[in-house]
Amino acid sequence: MTTVLESRSVEETRRIAKSMGETAAAGDVFALNGDLGAGKTVFAKGFAEGLGFPYPEDVVSPTFTLLQIYEGGRLTLYHFDVYRMEDASEADGIGMDDYLFGDGVCLIEWAEHVEELLPAGRTQITITRDDAEGPSCRRITVTKNGVAGE
Ligand SMILES: Nc1ncnc2c1ncn2[C@@H]1O[C@H](COP(=O)(O)OP(=O)(O)OP(=O)(O)O)[C@@H](O)[C@H]1O
Ligand SMILES: [Mg+2]
Repeated sequence: MTTVLESRSVEETRRIAKSMGETAAAGDVFALNGDLGAGKTVFAKGFAEGLGFPYPEDVVSPTFTLLQIYEGGRLTLYHFDVYRMEDASEADGIGMDDYLFGDGVCLIEWAEHVEELLPAGRTQITITRDDAEGPSCRRITVTKNGVAGE
């Protein structure tokens, strides 16, 4: 099932992400894609807030560490940014599988770089600029994979 949402501001992207964080369940995987500056990290802040993480402003792109772990919310958030990940062996190096198939929630920026490692039942989120609408407009496409009746 695919849903397309329109965001007209940073705040709106955060609200959309927050509501997804509020309903996320243990073991869920959210694969985030979109160009540089599309709004993936803005989304991650809102998502962390929705999970109940008390310091959502502290959520930043973990580009140089690949993974940041945010605890203190309803569920632990594993926030990956795999922009710089060259191949899947690096994912093994950080034990990515343990997180993907664990009890927390995974949110992965640049998920297309590790697509083959991700569980089928993930949620795909693609953020694109919608320049025709305005500089702060984004289209957020959400596809829930592996759901019966799709
Ligand atoms: N509607 C919007 N939703 C999200 N971000 C927006 C929106 N309008 C403008 N922006 C701006 O776009 C930028 C998004 O930056 P962000 O770091 O979230 O991108 P990113 O996709 O994580 O990029 P990167 O791939 O470099 O990590 C911010 O500067 C933000 O202020
Ligand atoms: Mg980012």
